Amino acid sequence: MSVAAYLEKNKDRFLQELFDLLRIPSVSADPKFKGDVVAAANFVKNSLQQAGADRVEICETPGFPIVYGEKIIDPNLPTVLVYGHYDVQPADPYELWDSPAFEPILKKTAIHPEGAIFARGAADDKGQFYMHIKAFEAMMATSDLSCNVKFMIEGEEEIGSDNLDKFVLANKERLKADVILISDTHMIGMDNPSITVGLRGMAYMEVEVTGSNRDLHSGTYGGAVANPINVLCKMIASLKDENEHITIPGFYEKVQELSAAQRQRLNEAPFDLSEYKGKLDIQEVHGEKGYSTIERIGIRPTLDVNGIWGGYTGEGAKTVLPSKAFAKISMRLVPDQDWHEIATLFENHFKAIAPASVTVKVKAHHGGAPAVVSDSSLGYQAAEAAMEETFGKRPIPTREGGSIPIVALFQKELGSDPILFGFGLDTDALHSPNEHYGVKNYLIGIETIASFFRHFSALQGK
Ligand code: BES
Ligand code: MN
Ligand code: MN
Repeated sequence: MSVAAYLEKNKDRFLQELFDLLRIPSVSADPKFKGDVVAAANFVKNSLQQAGADRVEICETPGFPIVYGEKIIDPNLPTVLVYGHYDVQPADPYELWDSPAFEPILKKTAIHPEGAIFARGAADDKGQFYMHIKAFEAMMATSDLSCNVKFMIEGEEEIGSDNLDKFVLANKERLKADVILISDTHMIGMDNPSITVGLRGMAYMEVEVTGSNRDLHSGTYGGAVANPINVLCKMIASLKDENEHITIPGFYEKVQELSAAQRQRLNEAPFDLSEYKGKLDIQEVHGEKGYSTIERIGIRPTLDVNGIWGGYTGEGAKTVLPSKAFAKISMRLVPDQDWHEIATLFENHFKAIAPASVTVKVKAHHGGAPAVVSDSSLGYQAAEAAMEETFGKRPIPTREGGSIPIVALFQKELGSDPILFGFGLDTDALHSPNEHYGVKNYLIGIETIASFFRHFSALQGK
């Protein structure tokens, strides 16, 4: 039986299994879900075993475990390492979901007329890494496996992969591979397959601004004592100028500028601005002057407030001059910005611009390096050929705005090319209410992954 026939025969079960995984609320950020995150690790372990992997192991870390498994059919054959993450983002605000976040259901949408799976983690990343386990099962069952394969599925990606670095460094030999496959990104569209070759890095900061030593009556003191929320807003506003250029001294020093030819190639990717605005229900886009939307996302760094709080936010009105204000601020970085350096530049600048009427605390949460991967490696060529086969169209390379901090470490420490082999769409509502993943994307992904293995071993001449 061919992989395609096996897939056709088993597709309902492949969907049901993914549903079972999606029912586990493996939210790594929230201690309330600790047991569920561990349950998801066990689920992954069992699915790897059932698919036919050997040496399947739950590798404990100081945080959540890393699930490892492998199938070495012949040490002379090329080896594929698969990376993914079984943890998910928090699902709140729950009330904005049309159906419960951890009760997956199939629904048709305009973009997915044949149906999409709605659940937290459907696209990021359960639906995407699970394709690899199912492709592996299909290749095993049909005697089509032409490469050795290793799986490393972690549970802390959404909180910065703190313990993965150490695991990778301590297990370099075990993780040795000729290529690393990661399905945790988007394509331009079903009609426009693409392969991601760039990811932004990240520096995630939290600031605390304190005025008076306690909350005050805003009539008795208002206008005479600094309001830390007002001050914080002013400080944040000053972090970008009228051209949306970041004002932190030294921020752009290491930013790689692309040549005119490189920029032109990037901008040749299919992109419809009015469709983009339409899907987001916005009248106009907004970003750094002098760059297109594709460039603003792919090759330019940026700074965003992710959350801001302080004072009174309950029902009705309370007159108060708060003592403290807080914000979570992230900066997306591009090559060759270093997140530790950027975090320091931010901290120094933020303290320098604070008026004497307040005190400021700055802390760095987590960060990660940006990455650019080759668009001509053997792995890339195999991915290109596989997509061309299943989509009937040659994929183009794109640069994405999201971050997968471990990619840069893979390049540096494992020395093999990571292939960002994502099958999601940017409309999948990652990290948002109503996250979903197209059934067609899921199934074509499984088929394309199996095709990758064939092309990769053929290109290696084995
Ligand atoms: N899968 C995403 C990254 C991603 C999304 C890349 C879309 C390209 C396109 C990943 O799970 C993620 O959300 N990463 C975080 C970074 C992490 C350090 C919290 C991100 O990008 O915010
Ligand atoms: Mn992800
Ligand atoms: Mn994510």
